[in-house]
Amino acid sequence: MVKNSLTDVYKLNDGNSIPCVGLGTWQTPDGEATVQAVKDALAAGYRHIDTASAYYNEEGVGRGLRESGLKREEVFLTTKLWNTDRGYESALEAVQLSLKKLGVEYIDLYLIHWPANEHVYDDPVAVNVATWRAFEKLQKDGLVRSIGTSNFLEPHLKQIFDACEIKPAVNQIEIHPGYPQFDAVNFCKQNDILVEAWSPLGCGRVLTDERLQKIANLYGKSVAQLCIRWELQHGILPLPKSTHADRIRTNADVFDFVISDADMKAIDELPEFGYSTFSPFTLKF
Ligand code: A2P
Repeated sequence: MVKNSLTDVYKLNDGNSIPCVGLGTWQTPDGEATVQAVKDALAAGYRHIDTASAYYNEEGVGRGLRESGLKREEVFLTTKLWNTDRGYESALEAVQLSLKKLGVEYIDLYLIHWPANEHVYDDPVAVNVATWRAFEKLQKDGLVRSIGTSNFLEPHLKQIFDACEIKPAVNQIEIHPGYPQFDAVNFCKQNDILVEAWSPLGCGRVLTDERLQKIANLYGKSVAQLCIRWELQHGILPLPKSTHADRIRTNADVFDFVISDADMKAIDELPEFGYSTFSPFTLKF
């Protein structure tokens, strides 16, 4: 069902709930910029913040949360395990540092940031499985409420399905008009894994596209709002990033219009553009 407000939730396969839009923080500098963006987002009604150990702003995210005046349990916090911390023992250690930097007792959602691949490891499958087993333990121990993956495509997810007990609840991948990754999205949906969109605005690259602008004009909305709405109407959870209070606010003003089926199709069928070129199959880290 399409969402009606920032506090509407998607239900995860582990029974937990996740607010349907989150503030992205990739490339938001730590310190005041992050603290302010988090406070602005929470003041605008967001209840979901997405960070990662590799964004180097977990401390700012934690401070923003505390300074917002909201209670810990009112805000859904995601962070991610960086690639250098893959493996069973390293993952168990890495989460402690994230908890410390965030200044929280638990993380709502912990994601493996990128799958290991054969460019870096002799046996990447064993590495992914060992990391995931640590995630299963973290969930059982209650340090993290939900566990998931990021940048995993079908072959990587199958590695987990084949060897592990718990399925990922979430998979966060690059998705925006011009790079919809429908194959991966459909595979996740078939397996009851919620898809989150990183770079839901194509990291800003799709915002000047004239075809999108024309469609956005039909609804009296910005291209950013059109992208976010398009993702929601696909049952995807967008994580738009901004450090500007006005953009943070307007990016959340997406619940008063519905993109028609014809316009959804027109956006779906745009030829590829705006792709970051970050592929889990070719990355060498
Ligand atoms: P800024 O942080 O200066 O606002 P994505 O979420 O796809 O990664 O895109 C983030 C990029 O898009 C950032 O450069 C961000 O810049 C910019 N951005 C976010 N929201 C808007 C908006 N409503 N209008 C224009 N640019 C935006």
